[in-house]
Amino acid sequence: MNKGKQLYEGKAKKVFATEDPELLIVSYKDDATAFNGLKKGTIQGKGVINNRMSNALMRMLEGEGIPTHFVREISERDTLVKKVQIVPLEVIVRNISAGSFAKRYGVEEGITFSAPTIEFSYKNDELGDPLLNEYHALALNLATKEEIQTIKDLSFRVNDALKAFWASCGVTLVDFKLEFGRLGDGTIALADEISPDTCRLWDSKTHEKLDKDRFRRDMGGVVEAYREIMGRLEKQMEK
Ligand code: TMP
Ligand code: ASP
Repeated sequence: MNKGKQLYEGKAKKVFATEDPELLIVSYKDDATAFNGLKKGTIQGKGVINNRMSNALMRMLEGEGIPTHFVREISERDTLVKKVQIVPLEVIVRNISAGSFAKRYGVEEGITFSAPTIEFSYKNDELGDPLLNEYHALALNLATKEEIQTIKDLSFRVNDALKAFWASCGVTLVDFKLEFGRLGDGTIALADEISPDTCRLWDSKTHEKLDKDRFRRDMGGVVEAYREIMGRLEKQMEK
């Protein structure tokens, strides 16, 4: 499958058409942004890591019966995916307080919740991805009631699977962001990526951050953290 016309360039990925109208090629870049593009940088080798990691995790989730857009890895940065119509919601699942949750509700980071939480943002860069609830999503016709229910059910199942997998790597899954899309027949499938860009991953023992927060917060050791988390995943996948 060859790359056709470039259809879109996002902050961390490019999307290309293919000869099959139902398939696209996603190409991962090393570019990193934070705070809605305000902070810009490069994380050397990130594209390769995010591509491989996202594919490995999507394959695992497919095995758990979760529909995803993943088709096949084409190269170290490129992946063939099913074309979906993206539901313009960013779905955030949290197991432990951190980031905007800790800030918004005035709690410290690192408090484990008795049950996972979920929240939605309206995927709209111009508005800065504002938080919204299910009624707002319905009012804005972003998804149907049934689709929102499916998205919630799938997101919690993804959390269970990812939490268990990362625990086996000595990593605590703090929170993450998912995006879903509609396949041609209307099926809701997991899309976008699952990577250290979109998850908070802490070493289970030391609580060292092994994710994009090192870039967001100017903590240093960004490339090393991406390599470390990828190494842990690869070691576990070999077993
Ligand atoms: P938050 O605490 O900043 O709301 O982030 C929650 C999770 O979502 C965290 O794992 C990082 C991820 N995330 C993205 O993937 N994209 C984004 O634009 C933002 C703000 C967060
Ligand atoms: N990717 C998002 C952006 O640029 C934010 C983030 O991941 O923190 O703005």
